[in-house]
Amino acid sequence: MKVLVVGNGGREHALVWKLSQSPLVKELYVARGNAGAWELARRVDISPTDVEALADFAAENRIDFTVVGPEAPLVKGIVDAFEKRGLKIFGPNRKAAKLEGSKAFAKAFMRKYGIPTAEYAVFDAFDEAARFVKARKAPLVVKADGLAAGKGSVVCKTEEEALKTLDAFLNRKVFGEACNKVVVEEFLEGEEASYIVMVNGERYLPLPTSQDHKRLLDGDRGPNTGGMGAYSPTPVITPELEKRIKELVVEPTLAGLKEEGIYFRGFLYVGLMITDEGPKVLEYNVRLGDPEAQPLLMRIKNDFLETLLTFYEEGKGKIEEDERWALDVVLASRGYPEKPETGKIVHGLEHLKKMENVVVFHAGTDVKDGFVVTAGGRVLNVCAYGDTLREAKERAYEAIRFVCFEGMHYRKDIGDKAFKYLKA
Ligand code: AMP
Ligand code: GLY
Repeated sequence: MKVLVVGNGGREHALVWKLSQSPLVKELYVARGNAGAWELARRVDISPTDVEALADFAAENRIDFTVVGPEAPLVKGIVDAFEKRGLKIFGPNRKAAKLEGSKAFAKAFMRKYGIPTAEYAVFDAFDEAARFVKARKAPLVVKADGLAAGKGSVVCKTEEEALKTLDAFLNRKVFGEACNKVVVEEFLEGEEASYIVMVNGERYLPLPTSQDHKRLLDGDRGPNTGGMGAYSPTPVITPELEKRIKELVVEPTLAGLKEEGIYFRGFLYVGLMITDEGPKVLEYNVRLGDPEAQPLLMRIKNDFLETLLTFYEEGKGKIEEDERWALDVVLASRGYPEKPETGKIVHGLEHLKKMENVVVFHAGTDVKDGFVVTAGGRVLNVCAYGDTLREAKERAYEAIRFVCFEGMHYRKDIGDKAFKYLKA
C-alpha cells in the first residue's frame, strides 16, 4: 500500500524508518521530511501545515494511509480535510486536537471530569492576571493558551518573573493568537513522566514507556526545549504506577471525550508530574512526543503499520516490546532554542551508518550541493540499543564522537536520572 508520513522532525524520520520495515508498504512518502527521511521515503514538497494541499496530494496519488507527526496540522484540521475526501489518516480531528491546541480547554475538561491536575485560573487581561499572581505565592506556572512550539509554558520562581511572563504573553502577544488567553497554575513538585497510548474512541493501546529531557542543559538547567534526549523504557513508570495512570487519567479522559461527543482516534500523550498525592496531568499532547517517539519506536518489534491499521479499524492491535533499552541524544545547533544557526555542514554520518546497534534519526537537516546541512534547532538524534540502559548510553555517546557540525551541542547526562531507580 501507499503510505504518507506528515512532518519534518526526528519523530517523523523514526516513523518513516519503522514503517519502511513493513512488508505491507509498497510506496512510502514523507511531507516534507528531512535529509534522513528522504533516504527511505519519497519527498513531498508540501508544508505539513498546508492541510488542504496535502489532502489533495493524497487523493490524487491514492495514498492508502497517512500518519501525522506534529500537532500543528492536527490542530489545523488535517484529519478533517482527509476524511472529507474519504482518505484514511491516523490522528485526532480538529475538535479532539483541542486537548493540545488550547490549554484552557484542556484544563476545563480535566476539572469537569475529575482528572487530577494542578489548580489553575484562566485570564485574558493583564491586570486581572497580575492581581491573581500577587494574591498567590510564587512559584507559579504561566502558560499561553495556544500552540507555541514548546515555549509557551514558563515556570516562574518569583512574582516578578510571573508578571514579566504575563506581560510578554497578554500585553505583547509574543506568540500571537496563542496568547489571547493564559493559564496560571499551581507549581507541582515531583518527577516528570510521560505516558503515550494509541486511542480509538474508548479503546486504547499503551505504547512502550519513555522519558524526555526537556531542559537545555545538564542537570535539568536552562530553558525548556522541545526535548534534548529520551530513553525507553522508563523505570519511573512502574507497573503499579501505570495502573494508576490508566485508572485516574487515561480512562476518565476517554470517557470524558465520549461524554463531550468528541471522537478521538490517534496518539494521546499525557505529560505527568508524579507528586506525593499521585500522578497529575501537566498537559495533553495529541501526537507522539519528539524525541520520545524515537526510542519508543525502536523498541517495537512487530510490524507497526499492521498494528496501526488494525487499531485504526477495530481499536485493537498488538505491540511486542524489545527487551533491550533504547536511548536518544539530541544534537542541537548553536543558539537553540532561541535563535538556532542553520546551514552548517554535518560531518561523520557515513561512519555512524556502519556502527552496530546505533541508529541516527535526522531532525533539522537538509541537502545542499550534495552535503547534509543543518536546517533547524534540533539537528540529529543519535540513538543506540543496549542490554542495559548504561550500555545504550555509552554506545550513543561513543557514536556522537564521530559526528560534528559547527556549533553542535548536546546534553551529556541523558538517562542519568533513571539510574537511581535501577539501583533501588
Ligand atoms: P507543558 O507545556 O504544560 O508540558 O509544560 C512544559 C514543562 O513545564 C513541563 O514539562 C514541566 O517541566 C513544566 N511544568 C508545566 N506545568 C507545571 C506545573 N504545574 N508544575 C511544575 N512544572 C510544570
Ligand atoms: N518532547 C515533548 C513533546 O514532544 O511534547
